Amino acid sequence: MMKVHPFVTKDGSSTLFSKRYNQYYHNPNGALSESQTVFIKRLNIEAFLQAHDGELRVFEMGFGTGLNFLLAAQAFLKDKPDLESNASRALHFYSVEANPISAEITASFQYPIDWQRNSMRNWIFTSLDGLKKGWNHHQPDEDIPIFLHLYWGNIQEINELHPQGQCIDFYFHDPFSIQQNPECWTPSIFESYKKWGNPHAKLSTYAAATQIRAAMAVAGWQVYKAIGVLGKKEMTMASLEKLPDIVLQEQQLKACDLQRLTQRWDAGDWNRSDN
Ligand SMILES: C[S@@+](CC[C@H](N)C(=O)[O-])C[C@H]1O[C@@H](n2cnc3c(N)ncnc32)[C@H](O)[C@@H]1O
Repeated sequence: MMKVHPFVTKDGSSTLFSKRYNQYYHNPNGALSESQTVFIKRLNIEAFLQAHDGELRVFEMGFGTGLNFLLAAQAFLKDKPDLESNASRALHFYSVEANPISAEITASFQYPIDWQRNSMRNWIFTSLDGLKKGWNHHQPDEDIPIFLHLYWGNIQEINELHPQGQCIDFYFHDPFSIQQNPECWTPSIFESYKKWGNPHAKLSTYAAATQIRAAMAVAGWQVYKAIGVLGKKEMTMASLEKLPDIVLQEQQLKACDLQRLTQRWDAGDWNRSDN
């Protein structure tokens, strides 16, 4: 289990500090605000749910406190709370965690949000309680079609994600920073994402380093600069298909020069110690 200390961020929501990585799990200026902005809003999850009446499949890198899972579930339940009217609707949330936190520590978590279901306060405890190595499949409430597929292990161990092939709609790329967690920011990770994603898959992350954008470009993603929040100037969004100009304008995204990023990667710009 990961050695962590609870910490309340500036928007009143909980996060953890990891001694091992010497880093917070979220932006100390606001854990809830960060997760909402970087993943739920930037990837337009609510608009996607309104447009698609079927299954939503998300893959998250780094389950951590489980906050992103709760927020995806919140968006799913908010869209059409009357789930019985459509049997094909479901949220499948895939996540991977090398060092799970203890289930007990989740009792200290507080979030200034009205959850769609009261039982959601307990979902992360029940997701982590009795976790075993490898895949764990969990349906927190049996009357709600929300499924957590949580892999306890290293992301590099996962080859095939789903027997039916390409299925992921959205990637929440949320490891620690590239300085602390370099193995999670390589082209091979983003190549796996491409393999597991449907042709319209999109990815979002809080990070903005040119090196991570180059790793995405090398793996075949369209890469976009996005506006930052909570003290960060920029963040990054990526898409498997090229986004039309109108979408870039609406979402205030700026396309990165993929050729230049790939050239710099191939020239070994980030193999040097001065970068
Ligand atoms: C920034 S925290 C995640 C925050 C999380 N999404 C949340 O909402 O709390 C990064 C997480 O990635 C996990 N992690 C780091 N390297 C990993 C790897 N190679 N494979 C799987 N998980 C990893 C860490 O243990 C940590 O829980």
